[in-house]
Amino acid sequence: MDIDLAQLKADNAQFIWHPMAHPGAMKRNAPDIIARGEGCWIWDVDGHKLIDGVGGLWSSNLGHSNRRVRDAVVAQLDELPFYNVFRGTTHVRAIELSTRLVKMMQPEDVGAVLFSNGGSDAVEGALKIARQYWKLRGQHDRCKFIALRQGYHGVHFGGMSVNGNTSFRRPYEPLLPGCFHVDTPWLYHNPYTDDPVRLGEICAAQLEREIVFQGPDTVAAFIAEPVQGAGGVIVPPPNYWPLVRQVCDRHGVLLIADEVVTGFGRTGALFGTRLWGVNADLWCLAKGISSGYVPLGATAIGRKVAAVFDADTSGNASVTHGYTYSAHPVAAAAALATLDLIEELDIPGNAERVGAHLHQRLQGFVQRFRLVGDVRGRGLMAGIEMVSDKAARTPVPRTSDLPARVARAAYERGAMVRISGPNMILSPPLVITREEIDFLADALEASFAAVEATL
Ligand SMILES: Cc1ncc(COP(=O)(O)O)c(C=O)c1O
Repeated sequence: MDIDLAQLKADNAQFIWHPMAHPGAMKRNAPDIIARGEGCWIWDVDGHKLIDGVGGLWSSNLGHSNRRVRDAVVAQLDELPFYNVFRGTTHVRAIELSTRLVKMMQPEDVGAVLFSNGGSDAVEGALKIARQYWKLRGQHDRCKFIALRQGYHGVHFGGMSVNGNTSFRRPYEPLLPGCFHVDTPWLYHNPYTDDPVRLGEICAAQLEREIVFQGPDTVAAFIAEPVQGAGGVIVPPPNYWPLVRQVCDRHGVLLIADEVVTGFGRTGALFGTRLWGVNADLWCLAKGISSGYVPLGATAIGRKVAAVFDADTSGNASVTHGYTYSAHPVAAAAALATLDLIEELDIPGNAERVGAHLHQRLQGFVQRFRLVGDVRGRGLMAGIEMVSDKAARTPVPRTSDLPARVARAAYERGAMVRISGPNMILSPPLVITREEIDFLADALEASFAAVEATL
């Protein structure tokens, strides 16, 4: 590569602030600079080849450098690089994509979509539509949101206010008033029970108590991820979402499924809500929608919610929410090609099959390594929680360098992985093969063994 690598690293340290990192951190440790990608593999600027255990960032679901997506993007750049979809204008790709998504989400009873540029945008759209929906129905007090602890809903003020992670919230408080949190049904860490069914019941009952405590006529929506991603890949018990749907229905509360990670096949189902046999009222979509090739977000609006906007004659149903680049034609073209490939390649099926192999490989780590307390996940999303005391299920402290050391050891063995607190999070491309999973699992096994040998 014809660039000055030392200068590149120095410039990065000086001029870029990286999300979720201290601005000075890159001065002390040069970050991994990724130069190119092909399928499930990436290469850094130093020429190291790595299996992409991160999948871009839960996003490169079709792998890197897919020719079909690339061609769609290039063709769109030649045809119409940009036009907006505000008010009286639109463009062909936006219409095609909205039609396609609504058809794809027919089992979900989706009526329409509102496009944006990413996951945080999609969440913001859902929260605002939920509030506006209740105003249109004359229930002006219904403006509160309830969410789960450990949940992650992006970084805008609305999403951040429903986030359930203290460290994402604290620096930017005070947040949006009227946002409340209840316990996540987390089998590995909860004060209640080791019985998943009982846990699902307890946590759904807790949600109901919170709604009743707030006053049901003040609660606009409950928002949650079908499988929590960034919070540590937390899979709820199978009875949880069905019970949540019942609770929401009993009190007229809207259910928002944040499918930014789980949408488009990652869990083995096309949408996470399908895993649990439950329909939401609003869905937040991003990442896998365009396989990360071009930023795109979408809020899918259930028919029941859309109908209230459609029928309104008060003049208050105008959606005064949108971005210059909502439904960007190049992003929409990338998404249309992505959706074709998701169906042609049976991406959810591959995530289910190859994911089962990944989980089978990783489960052995719990017995083998004293550092590994829990392995959890579904489809091609997996979390490995590192502990300082296995019997007490005590996660390694935030100050521990052990997770980073395991990740570094993996990097040296050709595997890119991501650390979040005590968790290693795996979210490889959904086209990954069994053999590539074995490469990833072998690298991780060797890395945990190498780090444990030093303890
Ligand atoms: C569940 C969930 N919601 C929202 C977001 C925010 O998406 P973005 O980073 O595209 O704004 C993320 C990002 O990881 C996410 O995991």
